[in-house]
Amino acid sequence: MRLIEAANYEEMCAKAANIIIFQVKEKTDSVLGLATGSTMLGVYKQLVEDHRQNGTSYRNVRTVNLDEYIGLAPDHPNSYRYYMNQYLFSHIDIPLSQTYIPNGASSDVEAECQRYEQLIESLGGIDLQILGIGRNGHIGFNEPGTPFSVPTHVVELAPSTRQANARFFPSLEEVPRQAITMGIATIMKSRHILLLASGTAKAAIMAKLFEETVTTDVPASVLHTHPNVTVIADREALSLVPDETRKVYGT
Ligand code: GLP
Repeated sequence: MRLIEAANYEEMCAKAANIIIFQVKEKTDSVLGLATGSTMLGVYKQLVEDHRQNGTSYRNVRTVNLDEYIGLAPDHPNSYRYYMNQYLFSHIDIPLSQTYIPNGASSDVEAECQRYEQLIESLGGIDLQILGIGRNGHIGFNEPGTPFSVPTHVVELAPSTRQANARFFPSLEEVPRQAITMGIATIMKSRHILLLASGTAKAAIMAKLFEETVTTDVPASVLHTHPNVTVIADREALSLVPDETRKVYGT
């Protein structure tokens, strides 16, 4: 695991966007694993700006998103499909037919999980997977306790996750209770993983992550066992990580 420190949120987003842009230029038909949440908003903004100014093309890129709420139709303003269209896909030149997100409105969600897992394989696997981190250490929607061996599956969202995501919904009651998420096994097959963290809300979980104990209690800790992980975090998110640890992981 490599650690790249950023002074603030903007710098973290710029560094992450540069890695994604480099990937897409190096391999024009890259498979990008994408994430949602507040952390990614600035990254997508930078990608859109770069596309407008420098013409970086996504015409041959394929994208697979980490997760989707169950019960929300793709055109529901709180669905992750809606988010991706709104913040990224509608502003770059990627054909929507090359963008994949689990279908949370499927009548057979178990079958949808299997289909999604096979789809990722048929694309040749993920070249670069971007991850945020939940305050409880979740990646995608893999909540604490999820075995590392699980592929794409249906999850019951932790009350704390529903609470954290309630800010996007009119009320807590309307936050779905279930989601489809790539499993940790799916995520770990990615060739390069980029984890982003910003702000004091992530400081405690980042300190836990850098304690190095690999445990299902902290799903993101599995990343210590992956050969190619880059963490980009800002000063606030790293404020509880000891200096010596930052030096060990620093590039
Ligand atoms: C959400 C998403 C994750 C995201 C994480 C952090 O629940 N399912 O994919 O990375 O939690 O979100 P945020 O960036 O808003 O803090």
